[in-house]
Amino acid sequence: MDEEDPRNGDEPIPKKPRVGLALSISGPGPEIREEFAHHQPGIARINNGSFGSCPGSVLAAQRAWQLRFLHQPDEFYFKTLRKGILESRTVIKDLINADHVDEVSLVDNATTAAAIVLQQIGQAFSHGLFCKNDTVVMFHCAFQAIKKSIQAYVVRAGGAVVEIQLPFPLHSRQQIVSEFRKGLERGKANGGKIRLAIIDHITSMPSFVIPVRELVDICREEGVDQVFVDAAHAMGTVPVDVKELGVDFYVSNLHKWFFCPPSVALFYCRKSLISSQIHHPVVTEEYGKGLPMESSWIGTRDYSSQLVVPSALEFVNRFQGGLQGIMKRNHDGVVQMGSMLAESWGTILGSPPHMCGSMIMVGLPSRLCITSEDDASRLRSHLRAYYSVEVPIYYHAPRDGEVGPRDKEGLITGYARISHQVYNTLEDYHKFRDAINQLIEDGKVCKMLLAE
Ligand SMILES: Cc1ncc(COP(=O)(O)O)c(C=O)c1O
Repeated sequence: MDEEDPRNGDEPIPKKPRVGLALSISGPGPEIREEFAHHQPGIARINNGSFGSCPGSVLAAQRAWQLRFLHQPDEFYFKTLRKGILESRTVIKDLINADHVDEVSLVDNATTAAAIVLQQIGQAFSHGLFCKNDTVVMFHCAFQAIKKSIQAYVVRAGGAVVEIQLPFPLHSRQQIVSEFRKGLERGKANGGKIRLAIIDHITSMPSFVIPVRELVDICREEGVDQVFVDAAHAMGTVPVDVKELGVDFYVSNLHKWFFCPPSVALFYCRKSLISSQIHHPVVTEEYGKGLPMESSWIGTRDYSSQLVVPSALEFVNRFQGGLQGIMKRNHDGVVQMGSMLAESWGTILGSPPHMCGSMIMVGLPSRLCITSEDDASRLRSHLRAYYSVEVPIYYHAPRDGEVGPRDKEGLITGYARISHQVYNTLEDYHKFRDAINQLIEDGKVCKMLLAE
C-alpha cells in the first residue's frame, strides 16, 4: 500500500522525515531548489513579502488533504476537518506562546482578522456604547485594506480615526515611540476614549519593524481599550510571543513567511476578550460557538491551507535552527543584499538593520526621477517586463519642511522593498542591481519607461 495514499485512514499524511536543509546566505542548495522548482525560472523573485511562497512538499500535503475531502466529503466533514484544524491551531498555540488553544483561530488572511476586530468596534459605535469623540488610532502607513476596513466598519458607524504619520527613512525606534505617544494624545484630545489602537508589527510600505511591546505598554498606561496588532508579515520573520507582547488581538499570515499555501492566517484573541461580541463576518450554523469554531467552517470551500500547518512546520524544522535559523539567515541575507545595492547605487537603507526582519527598504538613485506613485509603479512594471525582476517600488513624497536624504545627484524619493527568503540567490539581487545600473547608464528616467 502507498503510505501517502490519502485514503489510508484518519491520520494526517505521513511524511518521510528529511533533515538538514542547508540554507546559507550565498544561496540555496539543490534540495531547496527542488522544493521551489514550480517557481517560474529566470525571475529574480525578491518580493516574498507580497504573496509569500509554498514549497513542493507542503503543496503535496495540501493536495493529499484535497483528495481526502473529495474521496469521501461527508466523512471528511463530520470526522476529519475539525480535528485537523484543531491540530493546526495547537501547533500555532505553542509557536506563539498563547495560554490556550481557544485563543487561536485560523482565518483566511489579515484582512479577515481586521474585519473581525473592527466589526465589534463598529457595532459599539452604532449601538451608542461608544461616544462620537471616541477614536480608533492607527499608523498612516497601515495597509490599505485595513484603512478601508476602518472606513467601512468604524467611520460609517460614526467613529473617529486618528492617523499617526511616521518619518521615513527611520533612524531609531524612539522616533516611532514618540510619534505614537503624540498620536494617542490627539486621540484623546476632545475628551474621547481610544477604543482601539491598530499597530503594525512590520509595516508593508515603507517596511520596517515596529517596537510593538513598547507601544502596547504605552497603550496600557494611556488607557486604550483594545490593541490589535496587524502582524501580516511577522510569523517566520520575527519572534512572536503574544504573552510577552501583551496584545489583545494579533494576526499573522502563514502564507507569507511560514510556507503555507494561500491562504491562511493565525488570529490570536486574548481569552478575556473572547465574548459574544467577537464573530467571524461570514455567518454559518457555527455562529455563537466561539470564534475558533466559527472560523473553522465558513461554508463549503477548500480548507486544505488550514490543514497543512503541521506540514509547514515540518518543512521549517528541516532547516538548521528551525524557524529561528531561517529568520536569522533571511535577516542577515536581506541586510547584506540591501547594503550591497545601496553601496552600488550610492544611496541609503530606509531603516537601520535592527529595524528590519526579512525585508528592507533600499534607496534608488535620484537620477531615475521617481516623482509620483505612477512613476514607482511604472518602474516596477518595467523591471518585471524587461528585466524579469519582481520587486515593489515605493515613492516617498517629501513632506513640508522635511530635509530628505540625498545621493550625489539629488533627493532620494524612490525605494525598493527587497525580501529575502530561503530560495533566493545572490544572482537575484545582482540582476536587480544591474537592471537599475543599466537604466541609469541609458539615461532613463521613470517618465520614459514603458511598462510592457
Ligand atoms: C501590513 C499588512 N497588513 C495586511 C495585509 C493584508 O494581507 P492579506 O491580503 O493576506 O489579508 C498585508 C499584505 O501584504 C500587509 O502587508
